[in-house]
Amino acid sequence: TVARLTLDPSFVVGPVDRRLFGSFVEHMGRCVYTGIFEPGHPRADADGLRTDVLDLVRELGVTTVRYPGGNFVSAYRWEDGVGPVGDRPRRLDLAWRSIESNAFGLNEFMRWAALAGVEPMMAVNLGTRGAAEAAELVEYCNLADGTAAADLRRKHGVARPHDIRLWCLGNEMDGPWQIGSRTAEEYGRLAAQAGHAMKRVDPSIELVACGSSDADMPTFAAWEATVLEQAYDQVDYLSLHTYYDPERGDEASFRASAVHLDGYVDDVLATADHVRARLRRTKRIRLALDEWNVWYKSRLVEPEDRGIEDTPALIEDDFTVTDAMVVGNLLISMLRHADRLTVGCQAQLVNIIAPIRTAPGGPAWRQTIFHPFAQTARLARGTVLRPALTAPLMTTGRFGDVPAVDAVATLDGRTLTVFAVNRGTEPIPLHLDLRAFGGHRPGEHLVLANDDPHLSNTAEHPERVTLGSSRSTTEVLLAPVSWHALSFT
Ligand code: AHR
Repeated sequence: TVARLTLDPSFVVGPVDRRLFGSFVEHMGRCVYTGIFEPGHPRADADGLRTDVLDLVRELGVTTVRYPGGNFVSAYRWEDGVGPVGDRPRRLDLAWRSIESNAFGLNEFMRWAALAGVEPMMAVNLGTRGAAEAAELVEYCNLADGTAAADLRRKHGVARPHDIRLWCLGNEMDGPWQIGSRTAEEYGRLAAQAGHAMKRVDPSIELVACGSSDADMPTFAAWEATVLEQAYDQVDYLSLHTYYDPERGDEASFRASAVHLDGYVDDVLATADHVRARLRRTKRIRLALDEWNVWYKSRLVEPEDRGIEDTPALIEDDFTVTDAMVVGNLLISMLRHADRLTVGCQAQLVNIIAPIRTAPGGPAWRQTIFHPFAQTARLARGTVLRPALTAPLMTTGRFGDVPAVDAVATLDGRTLTVFAVNRGTEPIPLHLDLRAFGGHRPGEHLVLANDDPHLSNTAEHPERVTLGSSRSTTEVLLAPVSWHALSFT
């Protein structure tokens, strides 16, 4: 009935890569339009960027933002979104069957990213397009001048190159829903060709190949192996995507979603390392979990079943206290794999299954999941430490018996922070053994918990679920369904 956690500074997993705390802005629903960009909004700047949203993005501590999709990118022409706004075409977006005005494009995104203080992670279209267009986009973004694409950017008023480091080779190319989806052989070859051409333009960029859209895909693991066999030398990262639906299966399994993520990451790493052995390479592929979150996906209305709309409100899920605990636990799982999993993008940033919500013309507010993300991004620095943990078990339908408490820690100079969750429905005393550190002083204890685990924040009640704060101690009672960050200095 008691959880015990022992920490030692020599139980090192690896450094905390700040790119783990990334997010995702897709041209989907109201993420861009009336999300980050809303000309005429009382808080919009001269470029139409919502400064109230920018303030929240900075508070969230997001480091890296993937753009412009998602499924959207697989039929997108990046040229539509650059140059004089009045000349840009209105297009039918095939991914979400929405009208894309192209009022916001690459250069607007880069202006927003600079204000938000985030690193861009740019995705190229490998659905309806190929190596030539991908290489030309790198040229437009990263070359100084003297070539057609670089000079076009200058003509568009952007004198200095954007110098974008991180690039995604398409999106979810294994998914039958994807415009231009491919077999693993087809995609692996295309990714190798596009990657080769893109690195000819700028050899210093880093490339992410598409892994599976989900661990439940019928092609999972075979897909990763086939893609890497063809593109191993061109790519630096392999992506994985995963979403957890609170309405799928039993609630205990949902609360223990991080157990699934742990296994998924381990399986992708084993597959990547198997290919490395077969190809006799020394380079190790790193992982980019470049779409992850809680998503009430069973409520999704498929694009085929909706009419064509301009800026529809798509998948604007209201998140609960339980969802926030799960998000905090998924971040714990990511940190546990910090030696190989070094990019993470929570999907998405605003309105679409997001930590930040907005009303058109109205306020912006923090969802419950905002809090564990913001605090983990703020506090998880330095080196990840793996705790020795014993905890009472809880029974789940999907994973059998699993520990009801999960935890990880980071050490940054003298600051030790323990991130912990109680994913069970009973209170559990947690005993921290920090003897190996010799005389740490208490710092802050942040907690997200509520008597009603189904409570969420809304436009009318934006502060209903917030963090509690007290002094940290080594003897803590973890409330049912709760998330904690305990710092010691
Ligand atoms: O994040 C929403 C969608 O989920 C993305 O467009 C797609 O990549 C994934 O299936």
